Amino acid sequence: MRSLINITDLTVEEIYDLIDTAGDIIDNPEKYAEKCRGKKLATLFFEPSTRTRLSFEAAMMELGGNVIGFSDADNSSASKGESMADTARVISCYADIMAIRHPKEGAPLVAAKNATVPVINAGDGGHSHPTQTLTDLLTIAREKGRLNDLTVGFCGDLKYGRTVHSLIEALSRYTGIRIVLVSPEELRVPGYVMKGIIMENGMECKETADLESVLPELDVLYMTRIQRERFADRDEYERLKDSYVLTAEKLDTAKADLAILHPLPRVNEISVKVDNDPRACYFKQAMYGKYIRMALILKLLAEREGENEARRTCGDELVNVIKCPNPRCITSVEQELDQVFRPVNVENHIYRCLYCESKAKHE
Ligand code: NCD
Repeated sequence: MRSLINITDLTVEEIYDLIDTAGDIIDNPEKYAEKCRGKKLATLFFEPSTRTRLSFEAAMMELGGNVIGFSDADNSSASKGESMADTARVISCYADIMAIRHPKEGAPLVAAKNATVPVINAGDGGHSHPTQTLTDLLTIAREKGRLNDLTVGFCGDLKYGRTVHSLIEALSRYTGIRIVLVSPEELRVPGYVMKGIIMENGMECKETADLESVLPELDVLYMTRIQRERFADRDEYERLKDSYVLTAEKLDTAKADLAILHPLPRVNEISVKVDNDPRACYFKQAMYGKYIRMALILKLLAEREGENEARRTCGDELVNVIKCPNPRCITSVEQELDQVFRPVNVENHIYRCLYCESKAKHE
């Protein structure tokens, strides 16, 4: 059975198909209004959300289906200490598909391994957020007319911004993509993105702390907020929180057909004066999020009915040999979980945690 945990769980062709389906839903919504009649989506949100949860719920309703769930971990049995695995098993009895947001990295994967219905990762800690990436790809495809041959700038909190990590991973599979990373030194992309995705795929990439110097080069600018809730050190957040503010004046030097994206919520990294600029796409992007989630729900439910395919492979995994060093990993709180590591570089004994992708050495 098929779940969506990382964006690479979908092939490039499947993503094009989802973009086509979303386009057809936008043009012919009535065709889809009854497609999920009698089906239930469970939204399990252990972390705050506005767009992601409500767009999932609106998506299921516009397909004629129903929605159950919670939007606050305190209202769920997790607050009594229930494990992710047990929660996933139980919800599988009540819903046909579930979307999970969780502060611990890898939690949706744990759910997918234990659920008997498809699980969609709706954001796990600072790790990944594949349905935001589908939203971003649909926005770029519709605004720029292509997913190849683009210079894409990412600006802000590239360390903790999970939407950035997933979008870079997605873009690594298209041709002619140049990445420009704009962040303070302290908030550069993590190693598993720089080494594991950008360098591994030979992507053309430039890093800078100066947004204005690179603005004229960009076809797409992906702004992000500084992720306050992921900082261990509050003073560091205060120091970095206003690192970048995109203003109407700064945009004077940008291309006339630049597309400005932001996963939202915005704090103050884009001045509200930019909202009226035709290059500002972030509210349209939020709308596209509903349509691409409709396409995804349809696909996963249709596949579930048609087959029972196991997608995630095992191979050379190390099980309970190394302990994950990442304090934000789901394995740090759910002690009964197997510590599963996959090889990155066997010669140098480097492995990567299955859940949060942090690296560790095993001699
Ligand atoms: C993002 C998220 O939750 O990661 N928002 C979203 O899903 N639309 C970005 C953020 O919180 O800054």
